[in-house]
Amino acid sequence: MALSEDFLQELRSRNDITSVISGYVQLRRRGRNEVGLCPFHGEKTPSFTVYPDTESFYCFGCGIGGDVINFIRHAENLDYIDAVRLLAQRAGMDMPQDDSFDDSMRTLRMRIYEANREAARFFYSKLNSPEGKRGLDYLHNRCLSDRTIRTFGLGFAPDSWSSLSDYLIKEKGFKPSELIEANLAFKNKKGGLTDRFRNRVMFPIIDLRGNVVAFGGRIMTDEKPKYLNTSDTPAFKKSYNLFALNKAKNSKSDKIILCEGYMDVIAIHQAGFDFAVATLGTALTPEQARIIKKYTNNVIICYDADEAGQKATARAIEILRKENLNIQVLTVPDGKDPDEFIRKHGENGHIRFKMLIEGTGTDIEYRLKKLKDSFETDTADGQVQYMNEAAKVIAAIENPVERNIYAGRVCEEFSVTKTEFERLIDSIIKKNSRRDKRREFDKIKNNLAVPTSNSAAAARGRKTRAQKAEEFVITYLMNNPDAVKAVSKKLEPTKVSEGLNRRLYETIISRYENGRDVSYTGISPEFTMEENSLIVAMISVYSPGLYTYDACMECVQTILNDSALLSAKELSAKSDEDVQAYLEAKKNKLKNKKPQ
Ligand code: UTP
Ligand code: MN
Repeated sequence: MALSEDFLQELRSRNDITSVISGYVQLRRRGRNEVGLCPFHGEKTPSFTVYPDTESFYCFGCGIGGDVINFIRHAENLDYIDAVRLLAQRAGMDMPQDDSFDDSMRTLRMRIYEANREAARFFYSKLNSPEGKRGLDYLHNRCLSDRTIRTFGLGFAPDSWSSLSDYLIKEKGFKPSELIEANLAFKNKKGGLTDRFRNRVMFPIIDLRGNVVAFGGRIMTDEKPKYLNTSDTPAFKKSYNLFALNKAKNSKSDKIILCEGYMDVIAIHQAGFDFAVATLGTALTPEQARIIKKYTNNVIICYDADEAGQKATARAIEILRKENLNIQVLTVPDGKDPDEFIRKHGENGHIRFKMLIEGTGTDIEYRLKKLKDSFETDTADGQVQYMNEAAKVIAAIENPVERNIYAGRVCEEFSVTKTEFERLIDSIIKKNSRRDKRREFDKIKNNLAVPTSNSAAAARGRKTRAQKAEEFVITYLMNNPDAVKAVSKKLEPTKVSEGLNRRLYETIISRYENGRDVSYTGISPEFTMEENSLIVAMISVYSPGLYTYDACMECVQTILNDSALLSAKELSAKSDEDVQAYLEAKKNKLKNKKPQ
């Protein structure tokens, strides 16, 4: 990634981290820093911190951190270059010409998009050829019209080992490696390529910019797996995409219907509701919820009627609630899923489904009804149990007006006076808030213990004394470049633990020698997003300017002493106390071995 340092520096100075982040998070000043509720995980007490001094941010709750570019990458789900582009746009800067930086990842992604687009065309043409008749019959049997097949670009993967790969390589000039990266094919035992999708009807997955990013392929019999999907590739992440969002985002409706399956989405669209989307064979992720929130605040969950579907509904409610979305739950009364429901009602399918949409209740109503059904509320005992559980559901609602409404309804149902029930709810709220605070605190504690990616000690959540010293030295150098020369004279990189710490140390030295910026913002582009989180976790422990040169040199000495006495392996496997004990033992041994 060779964007010039000058360009990046200007980009940063024109995109002050606090003002960029305050567009996403409501920040409050705390000392030199700003804190707010983390946009990357649900929390009620702020553990998300912005450090203007080091132009970085870190969340003690979820461990995500970095510089302003990393923030945009996380918040907008962009790769490095696109995040830089967005910030450049925000600041009214021109991007350097494309040939001034080489971005092989981006090139590969483009090739994958192209391969996928050609594959989609190939599958579509096969569906309409004699070879694909089985597929076309299958889709017609499932009541899909030719128009629907066309708008969703459905296709057919032939019953052959390598017809797609052969076509893409011979006719379209793709390299085998590109098809493997795209997950369209894999290397077989003979060293040739085998198509991933064979003898299946194909559902292309298209992202918000119109790229074909992946496929789902359904087998036409009862064999397994029923659906085969593209695994994650450099151009596709399941948990960040939703099937048909490319269509739903253009809908006039201010809602989104969230389903489980490809066929549900397509059947709902065909019935005239162009705002249905589906997750891609996984449970709803927080990222997907955040993406939905960019388009609408109103989500109708419309999962399968079976037990698995109802469990998934409960989980989806939790995730969508954290994003403060308004949730409704549509329960399909007869049939397994929305697709079956619509088909079952034939010509009236769309009217019946419209009635379902109009009759949906909120997520709270849905949960209260589920609860009520699970207790025998015609007995006093059952009523008490129900009210206790209902109070828990209502206590979790953040908006007091909303809470009040549901509390009132439950009381009315059983002619109970509201004050008692409200008191119960209040006590649960207090208990929950104590519990939340404790959890946040535990998370912070755990997080502080593991901010480095290297070594067995880190895996166990503990670090050796030498590693802590390394982190101190590294942080000190980032803030005090003048010390790099002296420290590098004393401390060879090979004395620093392998992995992130050593790479950081080496990067600082080599940048210093080339007269480049060694501060966090300078080095951050040389590390991945995950590494950036770890680096900021490390530096946020020590506030700049608080520590002296002498303290740094003492740490250098600690690293040298410990590394002299311990082999690297032993060192990384030992915790502070272990190291201490080990060193004591060694010293005693030396003392006892008096020269004769
Ligand atoms: P379902 O099993 O509910 O299938 O899986 P469906 O959508 O009703 O499919 P039809 O109607 O039988 O054709 C729901 C979703 O889970 C994913 C797919 O995305 C599917 O649409 N899935 C299911 C897989 O990825 N792999 C599987 O083997 C099964
Ligand atoms: Mn189905």
